[in-house]
Amino acid sequence: MFYDTTSNAHGMAHDPFKAIVAPRPIGWIGTRGRDGSRNLSPYSFFNAVSDRPKMVMFSSSGRKDSLRNAEETGVFTANFVSAALIDAMNASSVAVPYGADEFAIAGLTPIDGRLVDAPYVAEAVAVLECRVASIATLKDMNGHDTDSHAVFGQVVGIHIHESVIREGRFDLAAAHPVMRLGYMDYAGIGPIFELGRPKPPESV
Ligand SMILES: Cc1cc2nc3c(=O)[nH]c(=O)nc-3n(C[C@H](O)[C@H](O)[C@H](O)COP(=O)(O)O)c2cc1C
Repeated sequence: MFYDTTSNAHGMAHDPFKAIVAPRPIGWIGTRGRDGSRNLSPYSFFNAVSDRPKMVMFSSSGRKDSLRNAEETGVFTANFVSAALIDAMNASSVAVPYGADEFAIAGLTPIDGRLVDAPYVAEAVAVLECRVASIATLKDMNGHDTDSHAVFGQVVGIHIHESVIREGRFDLAAAHPVMRLGYMDYAGIGPIFELGRPKPPESV
């Protein structure tokens, strides 16, 4: 099948786009507002976008509270979602008025970042402390502003729980990441395997 996204006539009950660009890691974004309120919400339009410097990005579909707080205070945390925290992660996605504390709603323990004035999830096995580098309102192919807003953060500090450090590595299998698929679907990781990078042929 083929459909063009202008008509979006895919003929299915739900748009398959996000099921195709999957799995996506979940950035569980912790922020604080100028008024001191705490916020925690999951974003699967999230990824690492650079390692020199270390940078991550989350994208807000519409102007949501995490975006507002990142704009106001210039910092956020990105918390790792393990299988054990999936219900808390989901609870924190509830639509509540600005200022409602999703750490409390989800029964999680907030801790203030060591380097940034944003809260992180004590129960998370890994946390990135980030300073906002830039915020881009995404433009469409015609150069028109959309209502999607990408927040780029430079990672200034990283917490890793000792339980997921094995043989000198962050042991992803031990961390049990949960990833977002399409629809209401999630997945864990399958077997991990190594694949070396190709060497250029001798003649090149
Ligand atoms: C797993 C998951 C991933 C999500 N990813 C996004 C996302 O990438 N962008 C977005 O705008 N909303 C996303 N949402 C919805 C937000 O989490 C939800 O709208 C939340 O209430 C926003 O909170 P905030 O206004 O406090 O930032 C996601 C929800 C879930 C459960």
